[in-house]
Amino acid sequence: MTNPFSLTGKLALVTGAGSGIGRAAAVQMAELGAELIVTDIDVETAQTTADMIEGPATALAHNVADPADWSHVLAAVNDRHGKLDILVNNAGIMMSKPFSDAPLGDLHRQQAINVDSLYLGMQGALPLLRAAVAAGGETASIVNISSVYGMIAGAQFASYSATKGAVRSLSRAVAFELAAEGIRVNTVLPGPVGTNLGANWDAPTDAEGNPIAPEEALAAWTSLIPMGRLGEPRDIAPLIAFLASDAARFVTGAEFVADGGYTAA
Ligand SMILES: NC(=O)c1ccc[n+]([C@@H]2O[C@H](COP(=O)([O-])OP(=O)(O)OC[C@H]3O[C@@H](n4cnc5c(N)ncnc54)[C@H](O)[C@@H]3O)[C@@H](O)[C@H]2O)c1
Repeated sequence: MTNPFSLTGKLALVTGAGSGIGRAAAVQMAELGAELIVTDIDVETAQTTADMIEGPATALAHNVADPADWSHVLAAVNDRHGKLDILVNNAGIMMSKPFSDAPLGDLHRQQAINVDSLYLGMQGALPLLRAAVAAGGETASIVNISSVYGMIAGAQFASYSATKGAVRSLSRAVAFELAAEGIRVNTVLPGPVGTNLGANWDAPTDAEGNPIAPEEALAAWTSLIPMGRLGEPRDIAPLIAFLASDAARFVTGAEFVADGGYTAA
């Protein structure tokens, strides 16, 4: 019997694959047999990810907010492979400030990297995804990474939440339009995961806006998670790989939370 979770014969592109969840997803999918295109704005980190993969993997420089970069990357995929089975729109940034002080520019920056990227990527990759289905793939799969903060409020995450909510609604709308073609679009909503995402944070503050030590902020956050710990990239990667695989062939327009119970209450 064939293993429905196998990704053998599939070509997968993961954005933001030089770190955290994207790296773990790329490595996981390679372990399941996929050939990988790993892209990142920091191509050296993407190359490190490619080097971690035993099978075929190519690293490409790619700013997901830039339409010209998408054109270059997708043209390279087309030239070499003529199809794309799996697109994981993972690259993202998070900015955090009290709403009263958060400039509109923060929203625009996150909108470009967290949302425009999906629009550009899904639309640009469509001919390649269609080619994958036409070549006999059971379905082609897009996995978009939102966040629990696209679902619930978090202190000082208004602009980030706005973009991650947009990821959810954009994903469902595109899933609805593409379902009949066999192109699936699903969304993963991770809870807090220990990665480099916090590197762009301002100094953390308490609910009243008073500065607190990063360890104190982390402890307060962890205490909100029923499983008693932050997530790790390897807690999220298998879910992405499942959605990419034919095991999820009837799953589209759906959302999957992985958060240690954070939003269960
Ligand atoms: N870590 C968390 O707690 C958490 C929770 C929910 C959702 N997420 C989402 O998961 C995704 C991955 O985040 P992570 O936690 O692994 O963070 P990370 O910072 O470890 O990785 C993000 C990667 O994206 C890359 N990147 C940033 N801007 C880019 C751009 N313009 N073009 C291309 N690449 C770019 C970075 O170089 C980095 O390699 C993001 O969309 C994030 O919003 C993370």
